[in-house]
Amino acid sequence: MKLAVNGVEHTLDIDPRTTLLDALREHLHLTGAKKGCDHGQCGACTVLLDGRRVNSCLVLAISQQDAEVTTIEGLSPHPLQEAFQEHDGFQCGYCTPGQICSAAGMLDEAAKGWPSAATPAGEEPTLSDAEIRERMSGNLCRCGAYANMVPAIAEVAGR
Ligand code: FES
Ligand code: FES
Repeated sequence: MKLAVNGVEHTLDIDPRTTLLDALREHLHLTGAKKGCDHGQCGACTVLLDGRRVNSCLVLAISQQDAEVTTIEGLSPHPLQEAFQEHDGFQCGYCTPGQICSAAGMLDEAAKGWPSAATPAGEEPTLSDAEIRERMSGNLCRCGAYANMVPAIAEVAGR
């Protein structure tokens, strides 16, 4: 199968049941995306597929042969990384690549005007703290660094 990752096309001879996360980590040795739960519940494995954030543990690599995959390695350097450092938006750092990929995708979604559950119906979404928390709610942090991630993301959002 073929897999385009961070602008490079790879040919892989792997079991068709391999998840995108395992293809990235175990076969392409791109270890930025982390395996937290392997069940779509923590967001540590978040990458961008054609610019949209996904949990790569829930996606079969073979189903994404026409997509462009962007991992934290391909996203770097990104203003979110600097903002996370400035605001101390992490402790152990295990969730951080997923948080940053997710935040990058989320900022793009918000810029397109996509609503979230925190946006009252009919209103334009603005990236308030409540909006950021809601839109980032699929990314868990076991260290509980949320309080510092929100201002980091808000800064990059231009607030
Ligand atoms: Fe994919 Fe947790 S490892 S969501
Ligand atoms: Fe440790 Fe988030 S910084 S899990």
